[in-house]
Amino acid sequence: STFTKEQSQLVIESWQMVKKDSATHSVTFFAKIFEIAPGAKALFSFLKDSDIPFDKNPKLKAHALTVFRLTGDSACMLGEKGAIDALHPKLKELGKKHVGYGVIAAHFDVVKAALLSTIESLLPEDWPAEKKVATCGAWSQAYDELAGVMINEMQAIR
Ligand code: HEM
Repeated sequence: STFTKEQSQLVIESWQMVKKDSATHSVTFFAKIFEIAPGAKALFSFLKDSDIPFDKNPKLKAHALTVFRLTGDSACMLGEKGAIDALHPKLKELGKKHVGYGVIAAHFDVVKAALLSTIESLLPEDWPAEKKVATCGAWSQAYDELAGVMINEMQAIR
């Protein structure tokens, strides 16, 4: 991994801020996913047969929180030597499950764009532009590493 200590610090610092109100931010994050790819709604079993507006759906909130937290916590671990290797079994298992959910590799770009745009919107206004850019870059690289393991597994078993 080429993930540096500095990148890890930036993810940890921004993750602390996002974490505080992650239930709200999770909904923002998912709203962005469906804005970019409305068709992705059909993949979620708990949305298909529900009359509840998606931003009020307790199951969606719980699921969004899980995805958000796992990505954030995992991104923080990437700064530790060998940490990504420790995550491999879990990520491979998740990749396998996502094949079953009907998820394809292209969906990961959608989720990435939504995640980065959510993070970017939450960074303090008084941060220098270069710190914001470096922070989004660190999240981007962390996500690519995680998603890469999942996608590899998805393609291996398809
Ligand atoms: C379910 C994580 C990307 C769609 C889940 C679950 C986790 C998770 C932890 C619950 C798994 C379980 O059943 O035990 C992640 C992570 C991702 C990612 C960490 C990226 C790094 C995606 C993408 C899509 C997606 C790109 C497609 C838009 C789904 C769906 C479910 C699911 C449809 C099942 C929801 C249901 O129960 O109906 N994901 N996911 N995920 N994920 Fe993801």
